[in-house]
Amino acid sequence: ADNTYDFDLLIIGSGPGGYVAAIRAAQLGLKTACVESRETLGGTCLNVGCIPSKALLHASELFEEAHSGALERFGVTVTGAKLDLKAMLAEKVSAVKGLTDGVEFLFKKNKVEWLKGHASFEDAHTVKIGRKKVTAKEIVIATGSSVTPLPGVDVDNEGGVIVDSTGALALPKVPKHMVVIGGGVIGLELGSVWRRLGAEVTVIEFLDQILPGMDGEVRKEAAKLFKKQGFDIRTGTKVTGAKAIKTKATLTVEPAKGGEAETIEADCVLVAIGRRPNTEGFGLDKIGLETNARGQIEIDGEFRTSVDGVRAIGDVVPGPMLAHKAEDEGIAVAEWIAGQVGIINHDVIPSVVYTMPEIAAVGLTTEEAKEKGHEVKVGKFPMMANSRAKTNRDTDGFVKIVADAETDRVLGVHIVASLAGTMIAQAAQAMEFGATSEDIAYTCHAHPTHSEAVKEAAMAVQGKPIHM
Ligand code: FAD
Ligand code: NAI
Repeated sequence: ADNTYDFDLLIIGSGPGGYVAAIRAAQLGLKTACVESRETLGGTCLNVGCIPSKALLHASELFEEAHSGALERFGVTVTGAKLDLKAMLAEKVSAVKGLTDGVEFLFKKNKVEWLKGHASFEDAHTVKIGRKKVTAKEIVIATGSSVTPLPGVDVDNEGGVIVDSTGALALPKVPKHMVVIGGGVIGLELGSVWRRLGAEVTVIEFLDQILPGMDGEVRKEAAKLFKKQGFDIRTGTKVTGAKAIKTKATLTVEPAKGGEAETIEADCVLVAIGRRPNTEGFGLDKIGLETNARGQIEIDGEFRTSVDGVRAIGDVVPGPMLAHKAEDEGIAVAEWIAGQVGIINHDVIPSVVYTMPEIAAVGLTTEEAKEKGHEVKVGKFPMMANSRAKTNRDTDGFVKIVADAETDRVLGVHIVASLAGTMIAQAAQAMEFGATSEDIAYTCHAHPTHSEAVKEAAMAVQGKPIHM
């Protein structure tokens, strides 16, 4: 350790980027501190993001299965299934607590010091936390992101009428009509939760299609399936304002391209139009660190910012705003700081929308592959032809593999299926190993599993699936 500083490494923020970086750094022998201003560790993901949303997605799925009579064909008759929202929310809180306590335990176990409070730069090696000044040889910014505000629509999570994702994870009762502004990941996940619990859900999306950035065929299939589930999806529409009066909200919307405005009444409005990096209020100006046009902190391949001794990871830097991307950057940055080589392949980062069916992707979409000049071969296999999905009666969706026509290398995999989030892992691994579609097609997959659809889609790239 270098005695000039209090710590070898100080990390600002304890989200999946920060806490993972802290643990890895401590494992590698660095004297490490992590500053977090929240009451609990784990950042957005554990406290108000990935974990509570998945807790509610799971619970609401169970409720819908029991309540809708969907279990009857399997010989399971449930009568009088009722929603106990209080218990459901309490279970979510308990799931979150289990994990945030877990991170605290891991900090103690690895001797990472949690400095409680808000950190602000004094200089490139010094931060102020309350009245205390702490120095470190290296500082990593892992301050994450927050909800992008929508002008004319004031979020009030306490009020519970116009909310963001944090408010939508804790509504005290099921709204009759929920309007979601933004047909992205949060809108569809949290919209699914409240629809399953009984709300009528309208999704208002500015663009012509939901789920921007996803493969074109996936976006189409997803919209079709969500409509079948009862979502009212209004694309090409923008919200120009929303007002809450007591327990009701009135929105004004108009066609995105301009045209006649109309009003929509709702009991709850969820604003989910994206997130933006947290770069304000902690003295970046004091160290002369500027952000790019999108408000992100630019970094090099070793996560170094333009300021010596200061690096950055996670939602605050360019790239997808995903927990596992932040975590892998956390490991890599700690390894660089400890004098090792930290690798993360930004071309192979899976993303998953945890709706039913799930929607998962890794690598290039068909559109992106063509834009990049690849001639592509595409193989598709419907879940309808997968024996396990058929048996379980969850046949919605497909697996689509995009391969380079010349080399057969897998460029991207896109899955709509109940277990897509789990199935995508093998695709990511195959791509990480530089697999061809033939490699996947000749890999033995256990029967009967949903994953066989990945193998068959690879066989389809080759032109010869068995079950289609
Ligand atoms: P964050 O998790 O945002 O953590 C940053 C932490 O830094 C915060 O705790 C903050 O309090 C602290 N902080 C900031 N500034 C300071 C300061 N100056 N001093 C002290 N502390 C500070 N991603 C997935 O991969 N899968 C999912 O299923 C998923 N679901 C999501 C659901 C929702 C509703 C939301 C909102 C997000 C979801 N995400 C999901 C995204 C995921 O939460 C983020 O990508 C991830 O949390 C980013 O990690 P991070 O470490 O960069 O920052
Ligand atoms: P998003 O970027 O996924 O979707 C926002 C949507 O809102 C887009 O479709 C966009 O076109 C639309 N939009 C933007 N402005 C609009 C306007 N004025 N009116 C109507 N529509 C408008 O952002 P979202 O859903 O808020 O999620 C934020 C981020 O959090 C995600 O991008 C993702 O990084 C992360 N997240 C990840 C999850 C996961 O991995 N399962 C779950 C939830 C969030």
